[in-house]
Amino acid sequence: MNGSMDRREFTRLFAFGGSAALLSHPRFKGVAAPPLTPDRVRSGAVDWASVREQFLIPEEVTVLNAANLCPAPRQVLETVQAHTARLDSEPFPSYRSEVQASKERTRDLLASHLRATPEEILITRNTSEANNWVSTGLALGPGDEVLIFSDNHPSNNTAWKKKAERFGYTVTEVPHVDPHPGHEYYMRAFEEAITSNTRVLAFMQHTNTSGDVLPARELCWMAKERGIVTLVDGAQSFGLMDVDLADWRPDFFSGSAHKWPCGPKETGVLFVSRDMQENFWPSIYSAYSGSRGLSRTHEGMGQRDTPALQAFGAQIEFLQTIGQHEIEMRSRELATMLVEELSALDGVHMWTPHQIERRGAVVTFQPGTLRSQEVLAALEHDGIVAAARGGSDRPGIRFSPHFYNTEDDIERAVAAIKGYLQRGL
Ligand SMILES: Cc1ncc(COP(=O)(O)O)c(C=O)c1O
Repeated sequence: MNGSMDRREFTRLFAFGGSAALLSHPRFKGVAAPPLTPDRVRSGAVDWASVREQFLIPEEVTVLNAANLCPAPRQVLETVQAHTARLDSEPFPSYRSEVQASKERTRDLLASHLRATPEEILITRNTSEANNWVSTGLALGPGDEVLIFSDNHPSNNTAWKKKAERFGYTVTEVPHVDPHPGHEYYMRAFEEAITSNTRVLAFMQHTNTSGDVLPARELCWMAKERGIVTLVDGAQSFGLMDVDLADWRPDFFSGSAHKWPCGPKETGVLFVSRDMQENFWPSIYSAYSGSRGLSRTHEGMGQRDTPALQAFGAQIEFLQTIGQHEIEMRSRELATMLVEELSALDGVHMWTPHQIERRGAVVTFQPGTLRSQEVLAALEHDGIVAAARGGSDRPGIRFSPHFYNTEDDIERAVAAIKGYLQRGL
């Protein structure tokens, strides 16, 4: 629960508001799991079962879709509910000021989590918005070149290409190679694609397609040495990986709260390095900006879902209670189980690399000749949430496990795929 509201106050709010739908959810009835506190995270080894208890996911449901949208733990839901109730019942000016202050607390937490300063943090609505703020906010024109990675999300690549048509710069693409040819390959490919006109390098650290990992730190340093601006799309790394921006030193880094951080929906982050700030235009001018650094000029977005902004900070604290490194190790360990066990099934073609340093926690594979949409429907029938990839580019099923998953979830997913392959659909 957010520090500015104690449990008594929370209960009182709900008492006069009638029964909140959330609190009547079966998972909150009876003995709700106690909140996660540092003593519940055992020294040296996290009690993952108690982490799972923090989520509404019923025992019979296996959610393996973190790359798309993550469930939030109940403390996020409680924070959003409690502050929304307060906003709609006692919206006194003092409370509105308190809400603005708590946005700054979220900024502090994001800065410490990413090893940046609060002056470099903008709280956006999602990665799509953050990426687009970058492609709109840099003054580029004829003679300039933007270097992108072919696997980037449309909020990155489509945005650069469409804006190139309008502003007259050119876009060059480094193609992804399947299977992942190694970090040295990509370092060379990006280095060779750079010309004297290259102004920006935009890439993702961890792909949503096949879970390939790029050498983000090395690419940022290589670009920096050449005076090239870097945008690292962190949608698939923020909240999953231990991101150290003080070490990587990108110019921009984007992420969404509702993916791997398991935060509230429709909140996100854009890091803008101090060096960049003079040359970065705001994309939106309105009221309710932040009060520090770049947020004073670049974050005035009008009325926002302030309870979600508060919950975003509370969720960063939740991640920190467990430890981002531990979360990364856990998710990668579960992904390794999937890669190894699925690869051992007859007919499975694994798109995700086997080498651990080349992948993260996204696992994509083709289950024999089965159609991905039919497999997705069968998985749903069996209580397993996944994603399907159609088309000819690495088609199949994507599982993306996270720290709320258990070994049982993995076994269940593998057994389901094995059964479909043996019996057909
Ligand atoms: C690499 C990458 N960037 C950006 C996005 C967009 O994220 P959002 O929908 O939260 O804006 C996604 C979504 O899957 C993604 O995988």
